[in-house]
Amino acid sequence: MGSFGKLALARRALETESPIMVQMQELCRRTKDSVSLAQGVVHWQPPKQALNKVKQLVCEPKISRYGADEGIPELRDALMYKLQKENKLYKSNIMVTAGANQAFVNLVLALCDAGDSVIMFAPYYFNAYMSFQMTGVTNILVGPGDPKTLYPDADWLEQMLKKSDPPPKVVTVVNPGNPSGTYIPEPLLKRISDLCRDVGSWLIVDNTYEYFMYDGRKHSCVEGDHVVNIFSFSKAYGMMGWRVGYIAYPAEVDGFLAQLLKVQDNIPICASIISQYLAFFSLEVGTDWVRDQVNDLVKNRDLVRESLSLLGDDNVKGGEGAIYLWARLPEGIKDDFEVVRWLAQRHGVVLIPGSACGCPGHVRISFGGLPEAQTAVAAERLVKGLEELLRDGMVEG
Ligand SMILES: Cc1ncc(COP(=O)(O)O)c(C=O)c1O
Repeated sequence: MGSFGKLALARRALETESPIMVQMQELCRRTKDSVSLAQGVVHWQPPKQALNKVKQLVCEPKISRYGADEGIPELRDALMYKLQKENKLYKSNIMVTAGANQAFVNLVLALCDAGDSVIMFAPYYFNAYMSFQMTGVTNILVGPGDPKTLYPDADWLEQMLKKSDPPPKVVTVVNPGNPSGTYIPEPLLKRISDLCRDVGSWLIVDNTYEYFMYDGRKHSCVEGDHVVNIFSFSKAYGMMGWRVGYIAYPAEVDGFLAQLLKVQDNIPICASIISQYLAFFSLEVGTDWVRDQVNDLVKNRDLVRESLSLLGDDNVKGGEGAIYLWARLPEGIKDDFEVVRWLAQRHGVVLIPGSACGCPGHVRISFGGLPEAQTAVAAERLVKGLEELLRDGMVEG
């Protein structure tokens, strides 16, 4: 494997998982007329007013030049204001990146050495796992989620941090969670942060879905010299393809920016300038716009949750935040990849296998990517598929 004549490919890359989304896109392509509840996307476009402003800028020379590595000043200023006002982060500086995934890679490269140990919680975000793997950080300790709530198990973390010498370099959580669809209540997040601070581990919190909170729940952030927060424009403003995210790093830590700049200057140099302007104009449109889109997703969530109820209510979690439900497959069915393939090919609906998130025997279901009418179609197919699965198993033909 990985050796072609005398040319070998890097073990670092070969030993990294294959991206699950690429596999699922391939499955969708091979499956005629399938509908996807797989990809973590939203069905809306960026705000019209913001897109119109961007159109008028396209021909300006500054759009085609490189910009500051950290991001254009207008956007960074607006984000500093947003961080203080919305996230209560007062001691953080900002680097704009080509999406939250690139933000995460920047951080792993700036904070970890090959061979360091790191901590994630199951079910975990597959891209974060891959980012560790491909940078040589292969000592990935995966902690459990609480079986009832799926919240990261802080007691496990406390024990693990106590007995690790040296302490893990990074602990990372996603809030609200991909793929769990649950959130991390503020006292728990604070406890995790305090545990990391006390032993000297960095805490990276991925807040990609900060606005995706349901039923009155509130998202919150923690701050400290050991905490780094990641954010994204992709989902909130329907800007997946524009690739804008940002890192809020502790301003008072000496040399943090200098190290981040080394990484940034060698990967994107700067996030796309036109995309940064779209992000800036979208912020001007404001968060009420985002909340309106998110509120509308409740109908999708309820449709999909209803279809999953066949699995038994205790086996379906999530839907508190982000755009995901998380379900345990019926007892005895362990090969979730096979179930996903079968559901796609026989019933025309595509999900994500839980194995990709460290939890075989489960599936992740996204309810953000389709408008309500299409979500209803997908939910109906899911009901038919699950009925058959429970009644007859994975019959073919
Ligand atoms: C938790 C989480 N982080 C990061 C990303 C990637 O976001 P971006 O498009 O900003 O790179 C996603 C996308 O699904 C995500 O779910």
